[in-house]
Amino acid sequence: MMAQQGAMLAAVVLLVLLPLALSCPCPPIPASKVCGSDHHTYDSQCLLLCAAVSGLSVIHHGPCTPVETALGRLFNATQLAAGPAHPPDGQSSWEEWWTYDGISGPGFWGLINPQWGLCSKGRRQSPVDIQADKLLFDPRLRPLHIDKHKISGTLANTGQSLVLRVDQDSKHHVNISGGPLAYRYQLQEGYIHYGTHDGHGSEHTVQGQTFPGEIQLYGFNAELYHNMSEAQHKAQGIVAISLMLQIGETPTPELRLITSVFNKVHHRGQATPIRQLSVRALLPETDHYMTYEGSTTHPGCWETTVWIIINKPIYITRQELYALRKLMQGSPETPKAPLGNNARPLQPLHHRTVRTNIDFFKAQGKNCPTMYRDMHYKANSWAENEIL
Ligand SMILES: *[C@@H]1O[C@H](CO)[C@@H](O)[C@H](O)[C@H]1NC(C)=O
Ligand SMILES: *[C@@H]1O[C@H](CO)[C@@H](O)[C@H](O)[C@H]1NC(C)=O
Ligand SMILES: *[C@@H]1O[C@H](CO)[C@@H](O)[C@H](O)[C@H]1NC(C)=O
Repeated sequence: MMAQQGAMLAAVVLLVLLPLALSCPCPPIPASKVCGSDHHTYDSQCLLLCAAVSGLSVIHHGPCTPVETALGRLFNATQLAAGPAHPPDGQSSWEEWWTYDGISGPGFWGLINPQWGLCSKGRRQSPVDIQADKLLFDPRLRPLHIDKHKISGTLANTGQSLVLRVDQDSKHHVNISGGPLAYRYQLQEGYIHYGTHDGHGSEHTVQGQTFPGEIQLYGFNAELYHNMSEAQHKAQGIVAISLMLQIGETPTPELRLITSVFNKVHHRGQATPIRQLSVRALLPETDHYMTYEGSTTHPGCWETTVWIIINKPIYITRQELYALRKLMQGSPETPKAPLGNNARPLQPLHHRTVRTNIDFFKAQGKNCPTMYRDMHYKANSWAENEIL
């Protein structure tokens, strides 16, 4: 019964997708919905291969239905990942060929490129859920220091994220030191992760709660290494500072410098200069943070990253978020899907400890509750309507 139904479904899908399949620059293999080896359904093998060949997005339907399972696992993720011999048009290397869904999505990063093996095998991966009751108060954690002078850089739509690249040629680099860091790090880039709906966006979560967005500032260990590409493979190579984005009525002035040029980076490959940005001024006013040892949240998931999650969100207005959500993954000719929803799924902690410089015990006791009230992640919950 089931198998018969499945065969009928396959025949129908085959007819509907045939013209599409033929126009694809990929082998004329049977087009039908397939249940992948990750137990998720994708639209036609041909489209999957097209994704690899021409960068079209793969239609992902979520977990396979019993009918689709009965149709069999028609594709092998490892084989597909080994895929075509040449990178997709307009992309110079496989380094750029990864996405947040489909067969080049987070579940496959470790298969796409042998150098990214940690993405699937690593046990010190990011992002993670921060659970207040498991935090370890460490009185030796110092305040974080970030130079406050202004930088220039470039904001670029890479097709995967919105990335701020800080000019590295200037004499005055932005130093990041203190906090849990044993070395001086040099700020190099910032990533913006966000969702197309308020309910998701951030990569890290707090008590299971997701924020509409997360800005991540990456720096490399400038005392030991020359640049990010060298440092990312090496011990104590990278620091990543995470700022959660929450929706608010009052814009964050420094964030405006970035949000006001979203219209210049609508499509993949577009970039625009950013000037006179003080990254320090972007940070919320708190010394409190959580820290743990993890990885970059993009390939190759290098486990050389000290994460510092600032214990207070910064605010983005609805209008700014609206402009952000209009950005697209593709070029003007093939805009593809919106750029948002670029969050890697949560990774298990695997016995790692998340430390904090927040002394919850003291805060409960004599510190005035009104001063801190509603402005920090709480030990027990986060509720949106508690924002001042
Ligand atoms: C998938 O393909 C790879 C490489 O060709 C092979 O080693 C592996 O056994 C295949 N897996 C399955 C489940 O067929
Ligand atoms: C960053 O640190 C380096 C090395 O100590 C120093 O030369 C530079 O002036 C610092 N940058 C700023 C803005 O203080
Ligand atoms: C990074 O530094 C290494 C070592 O000095 C050098 O070989 C490499 O070319 C540099 N990479 C970039 C992108 O500047």
